[in-house]
Amino acid sequence: MSEQDTVHQAPQVPADVPGQIRALKRELRDRIGDVEGVFRRLEDRIRVQVEEIEAIRARGEEVWPVISFRDIESGQVSEAQLAALKRRGCAVVRGHFPRETALGWDRQLVDYVESNDFDAKYRGPGDDFFGTLSASRPEIYPIYWSRPQMEARQDPRMAAVQSFLNRRWTFESEGRSWFDPDQDSMYPDRIRRRPPGADSSGLGPHTDSGALERWLLPAYQRVFRLVFDGEPEKYDPWDAAYRTEVDEYEGGSTMCSAFRTFQGWTALSDMNNDQGVLQTVPIPEAMAYILLRPLLDDVPEDELCGVSPRRVLPISEQWHPLLMRALSSIPDVQAGDSVWWHCDVIHAVAPVQDQQGWGNVMYIPAAPQCEKNTRYAAVVAEDFKAGRSPRDFPEEHYETDWDNRFPENDLNPIGRRALGLGV
Ligand SMILES: [Fe+2]
Repeated sequence: MSEQDTVHQAPQVPADVPGQIRALKRELRDRIGDVEGVFRRLEDRIRVQVEEIEAIRARGEEVWPVISFRDIESGQVSEAQLAALKRRGCAVVRGHFPRETALGWDRQLVDYVESNDFDAKYRGPGDDFFGTLSASRPEIYPIYWSRPQMEARQDPRMAAVQSFLNRRWTFESEGRSWFDPDQDSMYPDRIRRRPPGADSSGLGPHTDSGALERWLLPAYQRVFRLVFDGEPEKYDPWDAAYRTEVDEYEGGSTMCSAFRTFQGWTALSDMNNDQGVLQTVPIPEAMAYILLRPLLDDVPEDELCGVSPRRVLPISEQWHPLLMRALSSIPDVQAGDSVWWHCDVIHAVAPVQDQQGWGNVMYIPAAPQCEKNTRYAAVVAEDFKAGRSPRDFPEEHYETDWDNRFPENDLNPIGRRALGLGV
């Protein structure tokens, strides 16, 4: 535990969750008034977007905006592309890294785990975070400190894309500056390697970064204040106000202590879009729908449409059939492309039988510097030096005695700043 941890405590899951939910529903219904009317108007607005997305798919066009790294680097991204990114809340960055660089990283990752005899040491999944979803987990390696991962995290090309994405947000509002868009904190995550021939049942649609928290925590109630006031049409998913003051409940085996403007991954293999790839419901405002849906009369009084503590927030045909219609796969990607989605955007991994080609990615999000992210980065810096699994992840610690993990001496100024180590 670092010094910061002892003064900063994550909130606890309430002892009586059903009671809290009943009380919350009473309070919100009083506050909103005509819940049914507010919800139906919101549903009409969302339906316009769902139908737009269905029409795009019917024409055989890509739903996901595709932005070239070259345009980001040179500041040439068009107004139309910027608008598409904000409307959809997700994008592919084409050529984020040269394909050969990414394929080289993929080979180095294999060398890294093989040279350390990982297969013989692997003890099985260390968390049950996705336990309530209908589908199983994809093949996740709990590896954090390889050279390829660290090189990608501290690469100037990564910093350029993170800054570009952070700047889609309104980071100054309510008289405050919520984060520094041009400097990220390091948020080390795992890798996925799914081999040719794999059968995978995928991962059901969900959102991360808090589930029950989104209704019950004061900071999230401030983030979603306009939704809970009954004015979801005024809610702006890109306003960062209070987002960096949210803390998830303590005790989940996988939670996120950082504020991420976008979740993301970098492709380490070419992937065709019918091979069990990522899908999103590319409608950032859908979070307002998710938040208000449990207030309708057909949901049991002490439930929030399947939400349970310390789990991801599930999206289902039962409660969100309109949203499910918009579920849209990424385009085909090549090694070196990266894929990004707004932290509220619903995402899933499609099932696949006898997968063609590899499905390999490194998870690297955009987590701009703010007090919350700097605090977690200080913990991460110690985990990095010791080769431990970062605190947000299951305590597996495979890499502590792997002597070919990325050394502190090879951090560049971007990496040092991202870990709060000074330059
Ligand atoms: Fe997720």
